Amino acid sequence: MILKVKSRNRKLSNSPHLCRLTSFATVILLCSNILYAGSMKGTAHDLSSKGFNAGENCIICHTPHNSDISITVSPLWNHQPLSSTYNMYYTNDENINTQPTGNSKLCLSCHDGVTAIDKFGGRETNPFMTGSSGASVNNKQRDSHPVSIIFDSAMAAKDPSLYDPSVKTITIGAGSKNPRTGTITELLLSDGRVQCSSCHDVHNNLVGNNSKDQPFLKITKAGSEICLTCHNK
Ligand code: HEC
Ligand code: HEC
Ligand code: HEC
Ligand code: HEC
Repeated sequence: MILKVKSRNRKLSNSPHLCRLTSFATVILLCSNILYAGSMKGTAHDLSSKGFNAGENCIICHTPHNSDISITVSPLWNHQPLSSTYNMYYTNDENINTQPTGNSKLCLSCHDGVTAIDKFGGRETNPFMTGSSGASVNNKQRDSHPVSIIFDSAMAAKDPSLYDPSVKTITIGAGSKNPRTGTITELLLSDGRVQCSSCHDVHNNLVGNNSKDQPFLKITKAGSEICLTCHNK
């Protein structure tokens, strides 16, 4: 996010005269498409126009004070955290049948189909998420890619069809869309684990023009590139 704020400022000072000479409010209006490229504005997670948000973008998920610290690795969390127990994806490998941890719990605090989207700050009036975006508590994780599993060099050494996440270097984002280069561990894992945030960037549409094409994906699904980033198949 810090990088993004810097690049917004740079864009502002490079913008055409028209933008520079008008008032700040007008600049936002005229240049919003340029200024917000690669940001949350206008994405499916921009809920600022909903009545319960008072025009704010971040508050539904984050708060500067009195945040919820019950989930390990949670960034100043404001939303009612997930407390459900899931029926997880099952294989014979006991290492990948774990309950959601870390930021997967943050995502599921809305995408679980049972916690209201506006359940923060003592309210709860809005509808729940349904359809494929909301998950039924017992089954949705059972039929989804495993999450919250530790993915490290030891796992890759045991299974040669996985790249070593601490060695393989990748690039996500491009142009104004938050470009970053680093290892799989640095860019895709959270707390050393595969989480929802391994494939999705909650704040940005890094690939494609909107979240419908490539739902908040960090790497394109065209040609299964996202899958082939970790799986050497
Ligand atoms: C729909 C929920 C949601 C909204 C809205 C949201 N965030 Fe987040 N944010 C998350 C989640 C989940 C994480 C942890 C997952 C991750 O880091 O990818 C996170 C992580 C972060 C982090 C720490 C990791 C990082 O990316 O640097 C910062 C800083 C942050 N958010 C800032 C913001 C700001 C500023 C806004 C408002 C413009 C905002 N967020 C809006 C859900 C949200
Ligand atoms: C505060 C509630 C909230 C949290 C927390 C949240 N989301 Fe969402 N998410 C939404 C809403 C609302 C939508 C829009 C659903 C719709 O339009 O049907 C959405 C849509 C999506 C979509 C589909 C985009 C599309 O256009 O179809 C994806 C993918 C997604 N979220 C992933 C995540 C991930 C991954 C996390 C955690 C890193 C997360 N969400 C956290 C509320 C949330
Ligand atoms: C291994 C990568 C990966 C992980 C991990 C992952 N997703 Fe996804 N997700 C995808 C891809 C790829 C799509 C797009 C599917 C398509 O368009 O066919 C998607 C689609 C979605 C959608 C759009 C609606 C739908 O079902 O198609 C939502 C919502 C979503 N994911 C939420 C989540 C949440 C919440 C988590 C964590 C519990 C998560 N995802 C973990 C790769 C992943
Ligand atoms: C961030 C790295 C990463 C990405 C991206 C990723 N995976 Fe995985 N995937 C893993 C890890 C780690 C496992 C657990 C180890 C294993 O069983 O191979 C796993 C497990 C699986 C399994 C279950 C294997 C079993 O034993 O039952 C399948 C199938 C799978 N992934 C397919 C996909 C597909 C399809 C995509 C793209 C939509 C994808 N993966 C994207 C890391 C990833």
